[in-house]
Amino acid sequence: MPAPAPDSTPKGLGYISSALAAPVSPAEAALRPLSFADFTGQAKTIERLQVMVGAAKKRGDPLNHILLSGPPGLGKTTLAFILGHELGKNVRVTSGPVVEKAGDLAGLLTNLEEGDILFIDEIHRIPKTVEEYLYSAMEDFRLDIMIDQGPNARSVRLSLPRFTLVGATTRAGLLTAPLRSRFTLQTRLDYYDHATLKGIVHRSCGLLKVALDDDGAHEIATRSRGTPRIANNLINFCRDYAQERASGKITRTAAAAALELLEIDARGLDEMDKRMLRIMAENYKGGPVGMSTIAVAVGEEAETLEEVHEPFLIQEGYLQRTPQGRALTAKGYAAIGLQLARNEQGALL
Ligand SMILES: Nc1ncnc2c1ncn2[C@@H]1O[C@H](COP(=O)(O)OP(=O)(O)O)[C@@H](O)[C@H]1O
Ligand SMILES: [Mg+2]
Repeated sequence: MPAPAPDSTPKGLGYISSALAAPVSPAEAALRPLSFADFTGQAKTIERLQVMVGAAKKRGDPLNHILLSGPPGLGKTTLAFILGHELGKNVRVTSGPVVEKAGDLAGLLTNLEEGDILFIDEIHRIPKTVEEYLYSAMEDFRLDIMIDQGPNARSVRLSLPRFTLVGATTRAGLLTAPLRSRFTLQTRLDYYDHATLKGIVHRSCGLLKVALDDDGAHEIATRSRGTPRIANNLINFCRDYAQERASGKITRTAAAAALELLEIDARGLDEMDKRMLRIMAENYKGGPVGMSTIAVAVGEEAETLEEVHEPFLIQEGYLQRTPQGRALTAKGYAAIGLQLARNEQGALL
């Protein structure tokens, strides 16, 4: 006779551990836009979301499942909360790697009310075993869960409130096709243009009661890599700098000096961006070179370079993706103070 399982109590059913809630820093929460009206930029995504929210409210249906993708700091978490606010529903927050077992998922889902939003950040990192349970939860609002082990093992069907899953990912390409296809809307956030970012800098400084002139806002926006989170961080440092080393107001001169001190250059490239460009130019003749090779050379995970650094470098035209790997462009060379060397026929040397 098989020995009884050491712990045969059903794990995770009907409870929510506080560890399942992803932390949100108070500083970030204070600057977070709360409604569509407050949120600038990402016009296409916003219109898609407004259409869905408007229709769902009129019909009295829960919102369809939504996948938000894009680099960090562009507003995915913010939008999940805005959706909750606009719908007048609760938002429960968790993150892919934290939902370890089907029981964790069951705990989260059974505590939702009709129409609530479950926000799963980094959804590409959800374990495969849990992902399979999500399929029926998303499609049919039910979970078939195995409880107990050995001879007592049995399947229990839980019916769930009709909820909305909002997933966020920096790597939409890593989602499996079955999971991705269960999101009615898949929408990608892009880096912000300069004018929008400048507006966000003004807004944040207003909320923080930080003195700033238009040139100061321009300078911070230029150096924020198209990313509101970076802009907000730079504002904090510029505020300290202006207070300690200048008149207290963030002017162009104060902002430029503060950001020089952080080694953020006039194009917004940070140290790691420049290290990548430099390694490619100096060690690999500008490429093409594979990302894993670059990663080893700069001492960073290839995944981080692909998620955080490469999209910006490509969008701004410093890097190109080729079938053989990444290649530096003339602009990439210029950014690190080098010239693209060509022979008289125009071929690369
Ligand atoms: N469109 C926007 N307008 C103003 N602030 C924004 C906007 N998008 C993002 N932010 C700010 O940037 C920070 C990061 O946004 P967040 O939603 O956490 O990004 P993500 O989840 O994509 O990493 C937040 O503090 C938020 O206030
Ligand atoms: Mg987030």
